[in-house]
Amino acid sequence: MKTVIYYFTGTGNSLAAAQRIAARLGDTALIGIPALRDTAQVIPPPAHRIGVVCPVHGFAVPGIVAEFIERLDLESVEYAFLILTYAGMTGAALSSARRVFRQAGKDLDFGAAVRMPSNDIALSDVQPANKQGKILAAAEARLEKIAQEIAAGATRRSRATPIGWALTATVGLLLARHRHTMDRKLAVNNACDGCGICAQVCPADNITIADGRPRWHHRCEICLACVNYCPQRAIQYGNRTARRGRYHHPEITAVDLAAQKSATWNEFPSA
Ligand SMILES: Cc1cc2nc3c(=O)[nH]c(=O)nc-3n(C[C@H](O)[C@H](O)[C@H](O)COP(=O)(O)O)c2cc1C
Repeated sequence: MKTVIYYFTGTGNSLAAAQRIAARLGDTALIGIPALRDTAQVIPPPAHRIGVVCPVHGFAVPGIVAEFIERLDLESVEYAFLILTYAGMTGAALSSARRVFRQAGKDLDFGAAVRMPSNDIALSDVQPANKQGKILAAAEARLEKIAQEIAAGATRRSRATPIGWALTATVGLLLARHRHTMDRKLAVNNACDGCGICAQVCPADNITIADGRPRWHHRCEICLACVNYCPQRAIQYGNRTARRGRYHHPEITAVDLAAQKSATWNEFPSA
């Protein structure tokens, strides 16, 4: 069966997860959700099996992803899955996203979350390299199992706890509402050499380079790609990130990140 996986990523974890699942399923097209942001309002998926792979942001799916699911025409979809990557706690992210699928006309058949290294350096420092390695190895194994279940057409619908729902309904809602202007906390210091990688990796096309410095335009998705991929570590979020490390998935480059904005992967490998 042909599969389309729509993905969104800030630092590569979700793209790496999507790639693993695609490799296991075969005959799968990977399409970046940012590439479809400014296209026709309704999106008819070109396959009967579809998946969405993205990070958890504030105990919910990122706003750009929720808005994308709302636009999907799910009438001809036979099987839908959602894989979230997260660093510590998902709240009710899976259940609340399932609601969005149902409102769009199709219940989610399979939902799972895979723990991966944290990229949220606005919240806390990066994990030590050996811990990141262990988390990534465990994620590989989990993704393999998940892909097998998806290939077999399994159903998995977990239930969120009341505390999970409370976190999603408060933090998730706040983040979704205010995300675009949260870039007011982003700033660049004198280490910036104007290389433009921040603008390249920004999935929201929220950054332009003016006078050799990045400028943010308040369509931010707070994915922290700009902060984490800056080779000079010149971009800071508030006053806490200056002394913190930077994270991106070891296999996912800035060029890979930028590719989620173009529709060039919108093809079946074997078509
Ligand atoms: C703004 C923001 C909010 C986040 N919120 C959560 C969260 O609520 N729970 C969690 O476990 N991880 C959270 N994370 C961590 C990411 O979900 C995790 O590192 C994910 O694998 C990153 O995927 P990506 O590289 O595809 O962007 C957050 C990260 C960011 C940048």
